[in-house]
Amino acid sequence: MKYALIGCGRIATNHIKAAVNNQLKIAAVCDILPEAMESLLAKHALEQEESISRYTDYIQMLDEIRPELVSIATESGIHAQIALACIERGIHVIIEKPMAMSMEDADKIIRRSEEKRVKVCACHQNRFNVAVQKMRTALEAGRFGQLSHGSIHVRWNRNEGYYTQAPWRGTWAQDGGCLMNQCIHGIDLLRWMMGDEVEEVYGTTRQQFHDYLEAEDVGVAVVKFKNGTIGTIEGTTNVYPKNLEETLYLFGEKGTVKIGGTSTNNIDVWDFADETEADAANKNLKEVTSNVYGNGHTSLFADMMDAIQNDRKPYVDAVAGRNALEMILAIYKSQKTGMPVKLPLTDFSSTDMKGTF
Ligand SMILES: NC(=O)c1ccc[n+]([C@@H]2O[C@H](COP(=O)([O-])OP(=O)(O)OC[C@H]3O[C@@H](n4cnc5c(N)ncnc54)[C@H](O)[C@@H]3O)[C@@H](O)[C@H]2O)c1
Repeated sequence: MKYALIGCGRIATNHIKAAVNNQLKIAAVCDILPEAMESLLAKHALEQEESISRYTDYIQMLDEIRPELVSIATESGIHAQIALACIERGIHVIIEKPMAMSMEDADKIIRRSEEKRVKVCACHQNRFNVAVQKMRTALEAGRFGQLSHGSIHVRWNRNEGYYTQAPWRGTWAQDGGCLMNQCIHGIDLLRWMMGDEVEEVYGTTRQQFHDYLEAEDVGVAVVKFKNGTIGTIEGTTNVYPKNLEETLYLFGEKGTVKIGGTSTNNIDVWDFADETEADAANKNLKEVTSNVYGNGHTSLFADMMDAIQNDRKPYVDAVAGRNALEMILAIYKSQKTGMPVKLPLTDFSSTDMKGTF
């Protein structure tokens, strides 16, 4: 399958690794910075591959290369415009998170991809973490019984050095704050596990220590789900001195699971009323990862390729990307208005937060 990558920065290495692991034919890479393309290819010993074209203009690349699958790993503020350019050309697309920065753009991506019969995958790769898959399997098997509540804590550290690496970080137009950037995976997991249908979100955000940013560095929220369950969210990049945890709790009548580690990669608690010997393997499960981005990109790419080949929905589709974005924009809107926000949210954008802090 002919593949191209747009955006060759920090996360792009996970995309190239996933493409190589899945035997995709890497036809082109694109970045406005030629040195970013070269250092990415060199990192993967692909710099001598003459079959990989380099482009600084993604429109030219799409029109000349005509890839079947593109992944987008640029700064977040231009994900939607690049995704729509792919969709209009009938090209399937994996979009890094967040899928878009506004509800309007997210809904347009869903609408146009359906009209053009193009597959869109939102890059929430943590859904493929071993621990997360175990929790999901138990949930789908009904092992939790009736759900009570769930909770996600993303307690990380990002210092000034991280934010000054790229000027787009922490801006409302290109990134958003810790909830939009760092916590979106955990928020996606919580919503997905709790049944997806949300009634109302009430949230508060602050900018405590990162006064050189536009956006928040801590946020908390309470979520009411339509099925009667409730959830809490706590996300921050203010933890001293380093990443502490990304932890997802799910509490049911007949089961309790705590997924921990720095990025929902370990199982810390696994207790079920119907416990069998097979459960022993899940207790204290640890998935080794080289960084907080985990190992999920390879599985996510494999799923997307299978979805294209078999004309089915990807496991993490555009609606999933929209739903995660909607949660964060609802928390933002709640901070702005001081009121709980009813979902669905149709018309809020990260840039509506300009001037908040
Ligand atoms: N899934 C994850 O776990 C994960 C982890 C980190 C980052 N991300 C997301 O990935 C995206 C990129 O993050 P990053 O940390 O790699 O950023 P980065 O700044 O390191 O890389 C972005 C790259 O995009 C390039 N770019 C900008 N405009 C472009 C254009 N018009 N055409 C082509 N290239 C362009 C930049 O020159 C840069 O090389 C962000 O949206 C971020 O939220 C996801």
